[in-house]
Amino acid sequence: MSRHLFKLFNLAKPSFKFARSALTMSKPAKIGSLMVSSSLFGLLYLKQSFQQPTFTESDWAEVETINASDLQEGEMKEVQVGPTKDDVILISKVNGKYYASGAKCTHFGFNLAKGILIDNKVICPLHAAAFSVQDGLPDEGPVYDGIPTYEIKERDGKLVVKVPKVLQMRAQIPMVGRDEKDTRKFVILGAGPAALSAAETLRQSGYGGEIVMITNDDALPYDRTILTKNLFKVELPKISIRDQAFFDKYGITVLTGKQVGDVNTQDKTVHVDGVGCVKYDKLLVATGGRPRLPPIPGADFKNVFTVRKFHDVENIRKAAQGAKNVVIIGGSFIGMETAANFKGEFKDNVNITVVEVNEVPFARALGRVVGSFYKDWYEQNGVNFALGKGVKAIEGSGSAQHVVLEDGTKLPADLVVIGVGVQPNSEPVAKSLELAKDGAVVADKYLKTSDDSIYAAGDVASVPYWYTGGREKIEHYNEAIQQGMIAAHNMLGKQISHETIPFFWTRQFEKSLQYVGYGRLFDDTHVEGDLKNFNFIAYYSLNNKIVASASMGRSPAAMILSHAMQIGVMPTMEEVRSGQVSIEDIKKRIQEKKGKSTCKRGACLHKKAQAAQAQEKKE
Ligand SMILES: Cc1cc2nc3c(=O)[nH]c(=O)nc-3n(C[C@H](O)[C@H](O)[C@H](O)COP(=O)(O)OP(=O)(O)OC[C@H]3O[C@@H](n4cnc5c(N)ncnc54)[C@H](O)[C@@H]3O)c2cc1C
Ligand code: FES
Repeated sequence: MSRHLFKLFNLAKPSFKFARSALTMSKPAKIGSLMVSSSLFGLLYLKQSFQQPTFTESDWAEVETINASDLQEGEMKEVQVGPTKDDVILISKVNGKYYASGAKCTHFGFNLAKGILIDNKVICPLHAAAFSVQDGLPDEGPVYDGIPTYEIKERDGKLVVKVPKVLQMRAQIPMVGRDEKDTRKFVILGAGPAALSAAETLRQSGYGGEIVMITNDDALPYDRTILTKNLFKVELPKISIRDQAFFDKYGITVLTGKQVGDVNTQDKTVHVDGVGCVKYDKLLVATGGRPRLPPIPGADFKNVFTVRKFHDVENIRKAAQGAKNVVIIGGSFIGMETAANFKGEFKDNVNITVVEVNEVPFARALGRVVGSFYKDWYEQNGVNFALGKGVKAIEGSGSAQHVVLEDGTKLPADLVVIGVGVQPNSEPVAKSLELAKDGAVVADKYLKTSDDSIYAAGDVASVPYWYTGGREKIEHYNEAIQQGMIAAHNMLGKQISHETIPFFWTRQFEKSLQYVGYGRLFDDTHVEGDLKNFNFIAYYSLNNKIVASASMGRSPAAMILSHAMQIGVMPTMEEVRSGQVSIEDIKKRIQEKKGKSTCKRGACLHKKAQAAQAQEKKE
């Protein structure tokens, strides 16, 4: 696909009118330039180069698009504004006004028109990224950048937009840089999504003090969710989120390959190996988690792996060459995605067995009915299961050769992958902060820990979950980004509480499942639809209250359900089971009740950063 999406208008095209003569000088879009760098899962993976384009008068064009009457209230339409099918923008109608914006999600470039418009937000149906169609700001999801917005007006019944000839897909949220006069120093432990989101939120909020991010990984922040979705093909540069130029531009120091030791809350210092003591005024613990290793003999053999970092994937790929028998311990997300990757890559040249202590895979998260569906589906794809069985040992001499189950069964193994859960990396603060039983750092609804100067976000944090009233360690990518954002606001003295509905996705054999809510505890499951045809919604409830839902092939049902939970219009399990309330009814309930205002990225931003950006442009 061409980098230049919109070079010349095709004047012969009857449906578009190129009105070059009508151009007037317009504001440069508040957008970053875009490089389309590779294709991933058949979708575009878009990578930002961080040079703000400077548009001149001749770079813009007015384009006549659809009839205003073709768009009803609450509707959106993808409209082609240039010669190729990729030259598209999105036109939406909200509260009687028309808005023109980018049409592609800034995560993997998916067409936003296939999603859903709720209030002024367009929500991507794949992984729940939400963008305001009014200002393009991203509110939620696995994204860091917004979408561009364009001028739109009605002329003689037609909607006319002013767009640049080279369409941009991203709009970077305005950020300030380092202000040397600001003597504050905020230190962020980790460089995962929670950490990166926090650092960017600080700059977006006008914070000019020092920001130091410290990670023991050798790489700048990258999207680790892809590691087990594309295990044999993923390349680090393509999943890297921000490059060094970005961190330099915004004055964010990232120390890579550095192990954080103890945090001293008295002196307000962090010990960093090879660096010494680093002082902080405010600290964010965003150290995530690491794969839990079960206490079984042989788990330390060199051909036994876990998956968390990019180098894990590299090691697995090397060991996989020539492996005939692969045993995967753990039938949940990491284990099942890994099994699907092996099957996809090596087909029948490899025997794969998933060992799971429960009777079906995904039992804890998705329950018995959906778990059984996954089991049957995987078996049809040639994956074997050893279910209801624990592992006694991994045996071998020098390297693993067998996985021995508790019933004495010996599974031959040239390679073993363990995916049995995540343990929080809370050691640096274990002596100084309150920890939950599972080792997570206890934080309040503002993500503040037991020390007033220290916040926690992401997989390492145990947070109050407003929807159920419980306390959870929610190990999801979007959640880490959201928590990092909230923690950063509160580090700056705001009082923003954590009130989101978690979202998670998984993808195997080209099919995606979307999960909303958090159903660690549920006592009832109802599945509507057809599991065998990958077209269903599963509801999970506790005491008749729906706490989570998993769906496949029903996009954008997950987005509707998530929103219904957020604004309190979710039906009871009884209502859903009896057929009284369908997904369409839930959508209507949403339209009828305006949502309560929760802190999302765009909505929470401080105007100072935007003002600073405007100033920068003037200069
Ligand atoms: C293979 C895989 C696939 C996944 N797929 C999905 C998915 O499809 N959908 C989804 O929602 N979620 C998925 N997840 C979960 C998601 O990636 C995590 O929830 C998210 O990464 C958590 O972000 P975080 O910033 O809290 O922690 P992390 O991403 O774990 O980042 C923690 C950072 O802290 C650093 N660190 C830790 N300890 C130290 C120390 N002592 N010193 C210095 N640095 C330290 C680490 O190097 C890292 O930079 C997946 C996870 C994995 C591993
Ligand atoms: S492609 Fe839109 S959220 Fe992932």
